[in-house]
Amino acid sequence: MRGDPKGRSGAGVAEIEDDSFRAFSPPTAIIAASPCFRLSVVDFHFMSSQSADEQFLRRALVLARQGIALTSPNPHVGAVIVDSKGNVVGEAFHTYEGVKHAEILTLDQAGQRARGGTLYINLEPHCYQSRTPPCTDALIAAGIKRVVASMPDPNPKVSGRGFEQLRGAGISVEVGGLHAEARRLNEAFARYIRHRVPFVTLKSAMTLDAKIGVPRTGELQRTPGIPTGGWITGEAARANAQQQRHQSDAILVGVGTILADDPLLTDRTGKPRRRPLLRVILDSRLRLPLDSRIVQSAVNEGAATGDVLIFCSSADEGKKHELQARGVRVEQLPADSQDRPDIHAVLRRLGELEITSLLIEAGSTVNAITLGSAAVDKVLFYYAPIILGSDAVPFSGDAQGSPLGVTDTRIHRFGNDFAVEGYLRDPYES
Ligand SMILES: NC(=O)c1ccc[n+]([C@@H]2O[C@H](COP(=O)([O-])OP(=O)(O)OC[C@H]3O[C@@H](n4cnc5c(N)ncnc54)[C@H](OP(=O)(O)O)[C@@H]3O)[C@@H](O)[C@H]2O)c1
Ligand SMILES: [Zn+2]
Repeated sequence: MRGDPKGRSGAGVAEIEDDSFRAFSPPTAIIAASPCFRLSVVDFHFMSSQSADEQFLRRALVLARQGIALTSPNPHVGAVIVDSKGNVVGEAFHTYEGVKHAEILTLDQAGQRARGGTLYINLEPHCYQSRTPPCTDALIAAGIKRVVASMPDPNPKVSGRGFEQLRGAGISVEVGGLHAEARRLNEAFARYIRHRVPFVTLKSAMTLDAKIGVPRTGELQRTPGIPTGGWITGEAARANAQQQRHQSDAILVGVGTILADDPLLTDRTGKPRRRPLLRVILDSRLRLPLDSRIVQSAVNEGAATGDVLIFCSSADEGKKHELQARGVRVEQLPADSQDRPDIHAVLRRLGELEITSLLIEAGSTVNAITLGSAAVDKVLFYYAPIILGSDAVPFSGDAQGSPLGVTDTRIHRFGNDFAVEGYLRDPYES
C-alpha cells in the first residue's frame, strides 16, 4: 500500500483563484487565512469591487494563468488594453517560446487604437534590454496614457524602475489591484529571480493522525479505510495534486519512496507544458532499481536533457553507466553530514537548470530533512478522514528540528478530504 498523493491548492479567497483550485475544488471551499506578508506596494489607490478597472485587471490575471507551464523561467503575465471609450482593443499573455512579452503582443493587436488607452497588467512592465527590448519604451511610444498594474516586478533589475519610467513619460500609473492573487501567481518566479533557487512546495497526503503510509508487511494488504490501490486521499484531491505537478517545473522524492511505491511521478493532466516535468530523486549511493517504473519511463534524450535526474553523493561507476544508458541523468553533489546529497546544493543545482518551482512528494526522511534545513517555502498537506494508528509511516522523521510557524493558511475541501496550505517563508523577501 502507499500514499502517493499530490496536490496543492489554489485559492479560496475572494477574488481570483488559480487554476488548480477552480478546476477541482467545490464551490463550498473554505477560506481560512490570516493576513500574511506585508508587501511594499508602490501606490495603492485601488478601486471599489466590480469597477471597470477591477474587471479588466481580473481579465489580465485570467490571461496570465493561461501561461501556466508555458512560461517558466519567466513570470506569468497577462495584459489588456482598453481604449479611451472603454473598448478592449488588445489582450494577450506571455509564453516563453512566444518570446514577446504580453505588453507587446497586446500593443500589436491594438495598433493605433492603443493611443490614449489604458494598459491593465498583473506585473510591472520591464525596463531593460532582456531577450526583448524594454516594454516600457514600447508603451510610451504607443501613446498609452494610463497603466493599472497589480504589483511591482520582484526582479531586482526592474522592481519599481519600470513604473518610474512610465511616470517620467507622463503616464498615470496605479499599482496594487488584485494584489494577493497576482503575488500568488508569480511566487515561484519571485523566489527564483531573487535567490536563483526554486520555490519549494512540500506536499504530502496523510491521515488525520499524520501518517503517510501503511506499515509494510511484505505483501500488498487491504487496510480498512484506504481504498484498493493504496491511495490515502480520494480522486478529487489526487486530481488537484496532479494540477500541482502541472504547475511545477520539477518534482522530488527520496529513493525510499521509489523503493516503497514505485511511482511514475509524471504530470498526467494532459495539458501542454513547455518542458517535461523534471523528476528528481535523491539517492546517495544509487539504490534506484533499474526495473523501477521511473527508470523504465525515462525520456531518453541524452544525458543532459533527460526528464529523470538523480542526485547522489557517491556513485558506483558501473551503476551510474547503467542508469545513464537508460536515459537517466546522474549528478554527484557535495554531501551533508549524513553523507547524502546536501539539500541546498540540490536546490542551487536545480536553480542553475532554470527550475523555478519544485514540488516535494517524498517520504518521512526527506520531509524531515527539507523542513529541518529551511529548504521549504510552502506546505500543502492533504488530509483524508482516516486514523491509521501507530504502526503506520509518520509524515516526518526525527530530524525536523524546531517547530515552524505557517502563515497565510488556507483550507480547501475535496469531497471528504481537505487540504491545508500555508507558507514557511515569504517568497518575495530579499
Ligand atoms: N503519503 C504521501 O504523501 C507519501 C509520499 C511519498 C512517500 N510516502 C511513503 O513514505 C514512505 C517512504 O519513506 P522514506 O523516508 O523511505 O522515503 P523518502 O524520504 O522519499 O526517501 C528517503 C531516502 O532518500 C535518500 N536520500 C538521499 N539524499 C537524501 C537527503 N539529502 N535527505 C534525505 N534523504 C535522502 C535516503 O536514502 P540513501 O541514504 O540511500 O540515499 C533516504 O533513505 C513509504 O511508506 C511511502 O509510501 C508517502
Ligand atoms: Zn516586458
